[in-house]
Amino acid sequence: MLLERSNTTTVYNLDDNLILRFATLDDIEPLAQFNGRIHGDDGKFNPYIAQWTREFTSPTHPTCGPGNVTIVEDTRTGHIVSSMCSIPQTWTYDGVPFLVGRPEAVGTDPAYRRRGLIRAQFDVFHAKGDAEGQLAQGITGIPWYYRQFGYEYAIDLDGGRCVYPSLVSPLQADETEAYRFRLATPDDLPLVMELYDRDCARSSVACPRSAAEWTRIAFEVAPQSAGYHALHIIETSDGHAVGVIRTSRTLSWRGMFPVRIFAVIEGQSLRALLPAALRWLKSEAELVAAAHEKPLPTLHFELGEQHPVFEAAPELFHKITPSYAWYVRVPDVPRFINTIAPVLEARLARSSLAGYGGEMKVSECVRGFKLIVEAGKIRSEPWTPDDHDNVMFPPYTFNQLLFGRRSLSDLRYMFPDCGVEPEFEPVLETLFPRRPSHVLPMA
Ligand SMILES: CC(C)(COP(=O)(O)OP(=O)(O)OC[C@H]1O[C@@H](n2cnc3c(N)ncnc32)[C@H](O)[C@@H]1OP(=O)(O)O)[C@@H](O)C(=O)NCCC(=O)NCCS
Repeated sequence: MLLERSNTTTVYNLDDNLILRFATLDDIEPLAQFNGRIHGDDGKFNPYIAQWTREFTSPTHPTCGPGNVTIVEDTRTGHIVSSMCSIPQTWTYDGVPFLVGRPEAVGTDPAYRRRGLIRAQFDVFHAKGDAEGQLAQGITGIPWYYRQFGYEYAIDLDGGRCVYPSLVSPLQADETEAYRFRLATPDDLPLVMELYDRDCARSSVACPRSAAEWTRIAFEVAPQSAGYHALHIIETSDGHAVGVIRTSRTLSWRGMFPVRIFAVIEGQSLRALLPAALRWLKSEAELVAAAHEKPLPTLHFELGEQHPVFEAAPELFHKITPSYAWYVRVPDVPRFINTIAPVLEARLARSSLAGYGGEMKVSECVRGFKLIVEAGKIRSEPWTPDDHDNVMFPPYTFNQLLFGRRSLSDLRYMFPDCGVEPEFEPVLETLFPRRPSHVLPMA
C-alpha cells in the first residue's frame, strides 16, 4: 500500500485504480446513499442508516466527523466502493476511563468484495487509534469476521429476556393504569443521567455520557436515524417522574422490539410498574412494526444477563436470550493493565490473597506479557513468549477474562490450549472475576 500525503489529507493508493482516503464534506451525501444501500435489509435501502451516516460524518458530531470515516474510491468512476468509520469514545473499566475506537458502518460494494479493502481500512484505523492513545477498539459485528483483525468476543451484547406481546395482560375493565409514559424533554435530563449512571455502576465496563451527549442523541439526532435514542419518562398518574425507558424506532438485528434502558428511582417498585410498562411497550412495538410493515415483534429487554427487573418479576418474562458479544481488540495489553491497575489492586487487597507478591509470564501465543505484583502494586510489561510461560491463552482469548465475560475456569473448559500453573490460578481468578457488562456505546 503506497502512502501519499498532502497537507490536507492522507491518501493510500491501493491496486487497480483504488484509493483509500478520509472522507470530506463532499462525501457525506454519496456515502449516506452508499451505506443505506450496502446496509439495507433484504436488499431494501435503509434510510435510518443513511441518516445516521450523515450524522456521524458531519463535522458537528462530537467525536467522529469526516476525519474518522474512511472511503475507498474507484478513481475511474469517482464512486465510493468501500467505507467504514471509527467513532472515538471513552469507556470505563470499574470506573477507570479509557479511550476506545468503535468501528462502524463497515461495508464494501459487492463488486469489490474479498480484495482486502476492509482489511486496509482497519489497518489505517488501528494505526490512528494507537497514535491517539486508544487502549481498545470494540465492534458489534457480523459473526467471526473481525477475529481476522485481532478482535475477540469479550463483552456481552444484546442478551436479556423476551416477552411475547400476545401474553401481555390487558388492563381489566375495573382497573385504571397507574403509570403513564411520555417522551423525555431536556428538562428530564438530570433524572435520565442519574438513573443511567446508576446502571453504569452495575456494569464492569460502561460508556458514560455527558449532558451534551444525551442532548444530542435524544433531542438533536433525527428520530429516523439509527443513532436516535427513543427516551421515555415513566410517570405516576399524578405526573411524578419515577423512571426512564429507552426503546427504538426500528427493530433490532434479532427482529425484536428492543428495550435498552429500564431504570426507576429508589423506592419505586419495578414489580408494581412492569404490567403497565409491558402494555405500553406492546403499543409502541405495534407502531414501529406498522411503520416498517413487519408483524408484531417480541418485546426484548436487551438489558444483559442480570438486571433488577428480571429479579422483580421473573414470571413475566417468557424466554432468556443468550448474549451475542462485543468484539474487542486490545493492541497493547500491558498498557491496558497498567491503566486499570488500581482496580486490580483493590480486588487483590480485599481478597484472601491480600499481600500476595509474584511475577507471572502470560503467553497469548502470538504475543505475551508479564504481570508483576509487588507490595500490593500491580504492573505489566511486554514479554515475548518462549517455552517458560506460567499461563497460556489461545490468541486474544485473554480479552474474555480481562473484561469479565468468562472466568478462568470457563476458559479452561472451552480451550484445551488454555493452561495455568497451579500457583497462578487463584491470582488470576481474584484479579479477573466473572463480571457481566452492559455497554451502551456512543453512535
Ligand atoms: C463483510 C464485508 C464488509 C467484507 O468486505 P470486504 O471488502 O470483502 O472485506 P476484505 O476483503 O477486506 O476482508 C478481509 C478478509 O476477509 C475475507 N472475507 C471477506 N468477507 C468475508 C466473510 N463474509 N466471511 C469471512 N471472510 C471474509 C476476505 O477474503 C479477506 O481475507 P484475506 O485478507 O485473507 O484475503 C462485505 O462483505 C460487506 O459489505 N457485507 C455487507 C455489509 C456488512 O455485513 N457489513 C458488516 C457489518 S458488521
